[in-house]
Amino acid sequence: MPQFDLVIFGASSFVGQILCQYLVDEYGVDGEVKWAAAGRSRSKLEVVRQRLGSAAAELPLLIADASDEAGLLALCEQTRVVISTVGPYALYGEPLVKACVSSGTDYCDLTGEVHWIRRMITRYQGQAQKSGARIVHSCGFDSIPSDMGVWHLQQQAQHLFHQPASTVRLRIKTLRGGISGGTMASMVNVIKAASKSQALRKDLANPYLICPANHHYSARQHNVTIPEFDPISKQWAGAFVMAGINTRVVHRSNALQDNAYGEHFKYDESLLLGKGIKGYARAAGLAATLGAFFAGAALPPSRYLMEHYLLPKPGEGPGPEARRKGCFDFRFIGTTDSGGVVETRVTGDRDPGYGATAKMLAEAGLSLAFDVPRQKGGGFWTTATVFDQRFIERLTEKAGLRFDIL
Ligand SMILES: NC(=O)c1ccc[n+]([C@@H]2O[C@H](COP(=O)([O-])OP(=O)(O)OC[C@H]3O[C@@H](n4cnc5c(N)ncnc54)[C@H](OP(=O)(O)O)[C@@H]3O)[C@@H](O)[C@H]2O)c1
Repeated sequence: MPQFDLVIFGASSFVGQILCQYLVDEYGVDGEVKWAAAGRSRSKLEVVRQRLGSAAAELPLLIADASDEAGLLALCEQTRVVISTVGPYALYGEPLVKACVSSGTDYCDLTGEVHWIRRMITRYQGQAQKSGARIVHSCGFDSIPSDMGVWHLQQQAQHLFHQPASTVRLRIKTLRGGISGGTMASMVNVIKAASKSQALRKDLANPYLICPANHHYSARQHNVTIPEFDPISKQWAGAFVMAGINTRVVHRSNALQDNAYGEHFKYDESLLLGKGIKGYARAAGLAATLGAFFAGAALPPSRYLMEHYLLPKPGEGPGPEARRKGCFDFRFIGTTDSGGVVETRVTGDRDPGYGATAKMLAEAGLSLAFDVPRQKGGGFWTTATVFDQRFIERLTEKAGLRFDIL
């Protein structure tokens, strides 16, 4: 029997430290939840433990490098669930997924690198089904509010109209938060790889990239990339940079539920940026900024300048005040084939990518350890297909999220 419920691999990361503090504050160290902090550097983990305060003085520390397969296997054997914040995942993540799959250990992470998720599913799905390891990627701001938000909306659509919403639009009303060096490193790494590979660019443009190979989806999906007038809110909408991750996860959730949202399900996400000329100017400004960022990160000289002088470094991110003041407000509008309309809202307190993400990731790990029965077999799940209403309750009671029907 493993001695820990959770091991936090990457406890010294920017988001890992916030997550550890959340666990200490909410659950202690050796009480109802038994957990350990892990990483490659004992001295860094000792600093993290010290910062967590006297309540964490007895927090166990486990040492393993992300490339050390034997060390990772030994780590997996000591716990029921591993939470990993060691990214970019496409660079460092595979040996840990492999170790979890071979030892039957549950796993969750924060990756938004969909091409890497595709690779992991292709390589390890069969083995995970055999060993019973439940692997759940994207358990942070990408993609829990989107994935669980659509799942929640579909429950209401079934309840009200006895059919799914075959079209769901996510309009983001409020988004207040910053970005860390680790997230930037992951984004730049994807853009760099895509700039060198046409096949990867094609994969990244495929809305069904992480669906099982036998899916029959062919509905054309709408992508908001340039300013667009949203007739429902009567505001200008612009690109939401995480849509390329969230939409892929939501389509996988549909496929893993035997098309519960419909065979021709359509889903898009965009940011609401205001009415009139000011709203248009903001949407146009956002498109120009994103265009400049993607072009800058794709070209080696400008990428060098960005990485060395402009972007936050690994380990850096928004400070405590910015994290406390952050929040998000997601509005979902679902329409059924017979014209029924459902509107729901998902909100969260704290800075979405860090303050809120750390709580969501911790609760995802705890839900895997304590709520999801073993009968839910091994394999690569999404949050909406491995969790259920109990997870929404956890997010609401503990993680500052709310799921409302409007
Ligand atoms: N989905 C979301 O909503 C969301 C939100 C936030 C972050 N993220 C993702 O989460 C990840 C972490 O972000 P962050 O800003 O917290 O990152 P970070 O501060 O840069 O931390 C990276 C972590 O990886 C560890 N690491 C690097 N190489 C390692 C190796 N060979 N062996 C073991 N550990 C190694 C580092 O350990 P050392 O301290 O020893 O260097 C550090 O703990 C990124 O991939 C980011 O994109 C996703």
